[in-house]
Amino acid sequence: MLKRTAPLAGLLAVAAAASHADTVMLPADRDNTMFSEDDTLSNGAGDHFFAGRVNGSELRRGLLRFDLSAIPAGSTVTSVELTLYLSRGKQGGQKERFVELRRCLNDWGEGASDADAEEGAGASAELDDATWRYTFYDPNDEPGSPQWTTLGGDYSGTVSASIIANNVGQFYTWGSTAGMVADAQLWLGTPGANFGWVLVGNEAETQTARRFDSRTNPDTSRRPVLTVTYDPPAGAEACCFGDGSCQNLTASDCTTAGGTPQGGGTDCGTVSCPQPQVACCFGDQACQDLAADTCASAGGVSQGVGTSCAVDGCPEGACCSNDASAICAEVTEFDCFAASGVYEGDGTLCADTECPVVLTRYVDPLPIPGVATPTSGVAGGVATYDIEIVQVAQQLHAELPPTTVWGYEGLFPGPTIEAYRDMPVTVNWINDLRDGQGTFLTTHHFPVDLCPHGAEDLPKVVTHLHGGHVPPEVDGYPEDTFLPGFFDTYVYPNNQEAATIWCHDHALGITRLNVMMGLAMFYLVRDDNESALNLPTFADGYEIPIAIQDRTFNPDGSLDYPVADPWGDHFFGDTFVLNGKAWPFLNVDQGKYRLRLLNGCTSRTVALGLSNGASFTLIGLEGGLLESPVSVSELIIAPGERRDVIVDFEGLSPGTEVLLTNNAPVPFTGATGATDLPEVMKFIVQNAPGDTDPVPANLNTIEFLQEIDASIEREFLLRKSPDPCTGKDEWLINDLHWNDITEQPVLGDIEIWAFANASGTMHPMHMHLVFFQVLDRDTFTLGVNDEIIPDGNPVGPAPDELGWKDTVQVNANELVRVIARFEDYTGLYAYHCHILEHEDHEMMRQFEVVPPPVVCVGDLNGDGAT
Ligand code: C2O
Ligand code: CU
Ligand code: CU
Repeated sequence: MLKRTAPLAGLLAVAAAASHADTVMLPADRDNTMFSEDDTLSNGAGDHFFAGRVNGSELRRGLLRFDLSAIPAGSTVTSVELTLYLSRGKQGGQKERFVELRRCLNDWGEGASDADAEEGAGASAELDDATWRYTFYDPNDEPGSPQWTTLGGDYSGTVSASIIANNVGQFYTWGSTAGMVADAQLWLGTPGANFGWVLVGNEAETQTARRFDSRTNPDTSRRPVLTVTYDPPAGAEACCFGDGSCQNLTASDCTTAGGTPQGGGTDCGTVSCPQPQVACCFGDQACQDLAADTCASAGGVSQGVGTSCAVDGCPEGACCSNDASAICAEVTEFDCFAASGVYEGDGTLCADTECPVVLTRYVDPLPIPGVATPTSGVAGGVATYDIEIVQVAQQLHAELPPTTVWGYEGLFPGPTIEAYRDMPVTVNWINDLRDGQGTFLTTHHFPVDLCPHGAEDLPKVVTHLHGGHVPPEVDGYPEDTFLPGFFDTYVYPNNQEAATIWCHDHALGITRLNVMMGLAMFYLVRDDNESALNLPTFADGYEIPIAIQDRTFNPDGSLDYPVADPWGDHFFGDTFVLNGKAWPFLNVDQGKYRLRLLNGCTSRTVALGLSNGASFTLIGLEGGLLESPVSVSELIIAPGERRDVIVDFEGLSPGTEVLLTNNAPVPFTGATGATDLPEVMKFIVQNAPGDTDPVPANLNTIEFLQEIDASIEREFLLRKSPDPCTGKDEWLINDLHWNDITEQPVLGDIEIWAFANASGTMHPMHMHLVFFQVLDRDTFTLGVNDEIIPDGNPVGPAPDELGWKDTVQVNANELVRVIARFEDYTGLYAYHCHILEHEDHEMMRQFEVVPPPVVCVGDLNGDGAT
């Protein structure tokens, strides 16, 4: 079942020799990697094993075991060192790329799985491979395979040793520590408890994954080595091996093991065995034949035992520049490392390598969108605006060339419309998308996947006021699109309370692409209640709307949205862009700021925190202010959602830097944890007093809708179904599509909508027209005919959800009930998942608010009229 390659078997203590410390250098007898994203991934026979976290939320943990039977029973272990060769991994970014050794508490196997290429993605586990779930995987009986007690391996809560292994292309040594000595002593005395170590990296940060060379690496010099020093119970003599290692053995055991006995009375402490020569590479192809240990200590890159400069030289590979230029060069590993690049491996080619654009953080100030200027009337009151949708080149980071974006009024994000309750705002939405020559665009900027319903390769637009309580003809109905050269006039009544709402494009089938291009802007409704609260103001610079989005850039500055075919489930950019700047900073005064946070990402949920441990004071949700402020340490904001918060910098000394952090993995299930983008922006405290007025304890009066007043409870099952066009699965609501209209709320009625998420991904469900309140959350099972059976332990909303909302997070496998009143307007409105990739394909349907039925009190002629 287990592969064991103990190099020195059948050791017998024969003659007593002088009492001295002996040292053995042992090769590993098993190693493997567990991959968190899949229960059936492994890399038993691979050339490498891994520990730490990759770009996303995926974790790797290494398993490594040494057979100590070469050490005579009864020996006392005095020192243990583990040496591994770090052959790949990200560098830079000031991350702590530590790797801990934890004693493994359960047996595990190494099968024949062998991953391709750089091996980071793992391979399908083979018989007896260890995986994230299984200790000895059996492909023919997956459920019956023995499992770890805890996913990801059972290991000691005590760290036996930990070091930081940051520089790729060198050896690292753990120990000797008391913990490692204790482990070895235990294993020596109780070999049946020797399950080796689990290698655990820095799982809190992305890009910390470390790749170490395994016991089967072709480069034998880079294989794991455990160096154990012990006081033997009886004597032996030094025995030198071809790889330069030494063990104290009897002469015959030494010969049997392929070593050279060094003579009675010698021991490894005093004998230096001849070291093998390796080709050792330095800068500019400089190569020296050196002893393996000398090469490592000189900072060179060893080409492995048996290599020589004459024969092997210094190979090259692709090296990414790790900056905004994203330049790839084929250089030696040494030169790549010296240039702070990221080496892709010997023999890799730039032709096969797409280097990421890596931007320096916090070099640009956070832009604050200006207030839109009306063509008549006054901003903040009754007014008319012409808002042109135009294609422009906008610089999104100091290190990037300008990016082609689409902006309202030529800005990404557009200018903020200031509105006041019951004072109507008229907007002429003008599609003026033209190319550089002034000609109207005829195709989209991005490749368009034509599978989603309504998708066309056209620059068609329609603006939705998200959170607007408006008549259907001005809601931005997804089919009401228009092309360049056309416009549409929308009158927004603003008969709603003060709230952070926003405009974004909603064109059927291509919403994600239009929003990705930049079509988003704030729309702030104010009212008398809010004005009386003395909250931090925009005029003072203390009220700042922040649109949080993610993008990926090409080196020429252009936006990188993955090719549309085949349709992608999500888009997760590698760069945060806030109010149209990548990784911005904001200088803040020593006081309170009202931040109106909008998640404008297409797919990414954020879980925001403050690096100084301070809390946010939450004052409002999508539909308006809470009744009273709530202090929260973490803000989980899904696409489409808003959080109105106060952040207080009072009392922080000038120069203090506070990071806005993120702790939401992608895709998001509902649970926070390791993320690929742990930082969002930076606040830098200035030497200036700010707004130090207290936040009022009472903010608003909210009518909480009662379940008993609901006329109906509707159920919505969220899950995937096969899509014949893409050949993949698409997201649907109740397995129905946009044109299947089955919900007809009666005007004035209160309804309960229950969203049952039968998937492993959180869906932020959004309804147009209404604001709703969360009633409760439960788990559920599906019965026959997909009957939704709640588990019967509903939990009411937390204090930070007690208000008017228009989008609700329906977590994986959760049943969420919301309650809403359908008032003021009849007609067709959209409801959908606000992950725009889901919405387009095709997690969007429509409801129709219908007039109340005429109560017939005297229909004498039977024509329906009384
Ligand atoms: Cu913000 Cu129908 O969406
Ligand atoms: Cu909306
Ligand atoms: Cu969704």
